[in-house]
Amino acid sequence: MLETKDLTIRFGGHVAVNAVSCAFAPGTLTAIVGPNGAGKTTYFNLISGQLKATSGTVSLDGRLLSGLSPSARTHAGLGRAFQLTNLFPNLTVLENVRLAVQATRGGAHRRGLNLWSIWSDHKALSARADEILDRVKLKAREHDTVASLPHGDQRKLEVALLIALEPKVFMFDEPTAGMNAAEAPVILDLVRELKKDKTKTILLVEHKMDVVRELADRIIVLHNGTLVADGEPAEVIASPVVQEAYLGVAKEAA
Ligand SMILES: Nc1ncnc2c1ncn2[C@@H]1O[C@H](COP(=O)(O)OP(=O)(O)OP(=O)(O)O)[C@@H](O)[C@H]1O
Ligand SMILES: [Mg+2]
Repeated sequence: MLETKDLTIRFGGHVAVNAVSCAFAPGTLTAIVGPNGAGKTTYFNLISGQLKATSGTVSLDGRLLSGLSPSARTHAGLGRAFQLTNLFPNLTVLENVRLAVQATRGGAHRRGLNLWSIWSDHKALSARADEILDRVKLKAREHDTVASLPHGDQRKLEVALLIALEPKVFMFDEPTAGMNAAEAPVILDLVRELKKDKTKTILLVEHKMDVVRELADRIIVLHNGTLVADGEPAEVIASPVVQEAYLGVAKEAA
């Protein structure tokens, strides 16, 4: 169970995330919605450790993560899509994914210089990397350098690296933003597939309400950094606070 308690961050006088207390259970997909600037990405950054909270805590399965570095939180099981700055732009797609797989498995270095063991490890890592590239439909690009990929393929690669880490918690922040109509379904299919694995906790920031409606087991709404609604999708979408604050339905019209 991922849990935030009174999680808060201030930027000068502005409270971007305001005392958000929320728990996310394994086997559920929670959509996080809210207008631009509501604090959704900042909330993710506080969970993943990219930003340091002003107050409040983050914990995973009862273990306090507050104060840990982003990489320590990744080790603990939090999976945030890599940003391309974390990649090796001059290595190939396959090499990058293989490194991510290796990062989670530990390598041959533990067993000393046993060449057979290094070789068989390498084969196993490559096989796993191959399987992941197949899932994100990037196999055709495996020998291309990351720097040469078009935007949509870079986004797919971010998801590939996330899968390679085998996290307990998957955090997707507008995963299909900037993708064309042919690319977005690949990512959404992957999210659907991850959902079938009932042990995973999935958090999805998404503006497209049709996607949210289809995938979410639960919706939480952030508005001015505050959690203003939390519940079943149909119920939350129909609530006055969402109709007014998020979907922009004017009060007079209601
Ligand atoms: N590093 C920062 N320094 C100062 N202000 C920040 C910083 N990061 C975010 N903010 C502010 O915090 C607020 C929340 O921003 P955030 O990016 O979390 O919104 P969001 O809900 O993800 O919006 P969008 O839907 O547009 O992605 C905004 O007012 C933003 O300007
Ligand atoms: Mg955002």
